[in-house]
Amino acid sequence: MNSAIMRGRFITFEGIDGTGKSTQIELLASELAERGIDTLLTREPGGTVLGEEVRRILLDPRRRKVSPHAELALMFACRAQLLDEVILPALENGRWVLCDRFTDSSEAYQGGGRMLGSGPVRTLHRVLAKNQNPWMTILLDADLEKCLSRARVRDRIVKAENQGRFEAESLLFFQRVQKRYREIADRDSQRIVKVDASQSIASVHQQIIDHLDSRLREEQASDADFAALASDITLRGKPLPGRVNA
Ligand code: TMP
Repeated sequence: MNSAIMRGRFITFEGIDGTGKSTQIELLASELAERGIDTLLTREPGGTVLGEEVRRILLDPRRRKVSPHAELALMFACRAQLLDEVILPALENGRWVLCDRFTDSSEAYQGGGRMLGSGPVRTLHRVLAKNQNPWMTILLDADLEKCLSRARVRDRIVKAENQGRFEAESLLFFQRVQKRYREIADRDSQRIVKVDASQSIASVHQQIIDHLDSRLREEQASDADFAALASDITLRGKPLPGRVNA
């Protein structure tokens, strides 16, 4: 295994409910395991004891009176706990972390859907999430109505307890969420890859692998450039500049 692979990577999956996110994150986890990469799979809200308890409150369809700001604060409480307890220690140990949703979800759902705007979300991200940005984000994007009917059918079939407070939202709400997701993807196009989730499961998975491999190749090329520059500077007797990794 080369050194680029041994460096910890933080990869997040995003998208509206019913895009097949959970299936794709599990497929990627299996692919990474086959490549011998030590991978941790987690989710938001959740992933810790505290986070899973708050998740139950947040997704409970009977709980109608959660103010948008309270909802945003609870999402960040889960995130702060997950970062400190799970994500950052794993990355420090060179593990890859696959996270089902992260701050982009807050920006799309609370910022866009609940109309709080991106400003408060970005501020909380800096303060409570230590401005920790994923190395790569996969945004699954597809026709809104198809995704929502898929999410609702899934919830009826598995009778998922405490799923549904978001699925019960109006089409207008999800249109705002999807619009904000697309705006975030345009703004952060270096980090976010938009994948067409309307294709077959196998083809979506293949698109994700292709994006991952091309990101790794780009990184290796830039590492090689850096190493060449570093040795050139060393040969001329100048000190090496520090390298900051994402
Ligand atoms: P999921 O984990 O099954 O995708 O569902 C989590 C729900 O929580 C989903 O409808 C999106 C919502 N959510 C937010 O509204 N804001 C957030 O910051 C996160 C992480 C999730």
